[in-house]
Amino acid sequence: LSEIMLQQTRVEAVKGYYARFLAEIPTLPQLAMADDELLHKLWEGLGYYSRARNLQKAAKLLVRVYGGEFPSDIESLKSLPGVGSYTAGAIASIAFGKRVAAVDGNVFRVASRLEENPTPISAPQYRRYLEENLSAVYPESKKDCADFTQSLFELGALIYKPRNPDCELCPLKTLSYSLLFIRVFFGF
Ligand code: ADE
Repeated sequence: LSEIMLQQTRVEAVKGYYARFLAEIPTLPQLAMADDELLHKLWEGLGYYSRARNLQKAAKLLVRVYGGEFPSDIESLKSLPGVGSYTAGAIASIAFGKRVAAVDGNVFRVASRLEENPTPISAPQYRRYLEENLSAVYPESKKDCADFTQSLFELGALIYKPRNPDCELCPLKTLSYSLLFIRVFFGF
């Protein structure tokens, strides 16, 4: 629920909606059977109502096909309505501790600035490249995989901002210098 609500929507805007939604509809079977009117009421003002419809379709599928259990593998997650590659990565890594990157706009910005890659962040082959290469450097422990994804989201949203990034506060400041050094001396 949180990952669907957080698609294209800021954390601050989601908090109240998330709490109200869970208070009214706390379980998957209840979501699968919820009235359209109730869903509308709980989503009103959050935007992109198709997300709520897809969420309910996903809940129905999870109840009927998966016996009410959330799958943890990336391909099953991606097959759920409304769950694309980045949301599947977020769920797999945060909820299940899998070594799978979740590349959203924020993470794109962090990675492309860090490696000074001028490829437009919307390019699908760049997304796949980042998903593969970021997943490969994910930590070994399950708990750390969740934190790693969450940290990248937070780094992108709070420090690597689209405008006026907070370079002085950046925890990757020294890494950027090291990369620059490597580039200058080894010509990468
Ligand atoms: N955007 C999408 N998923 C998020 C998450 N788990 N935390 C912060 N921002 C997000």
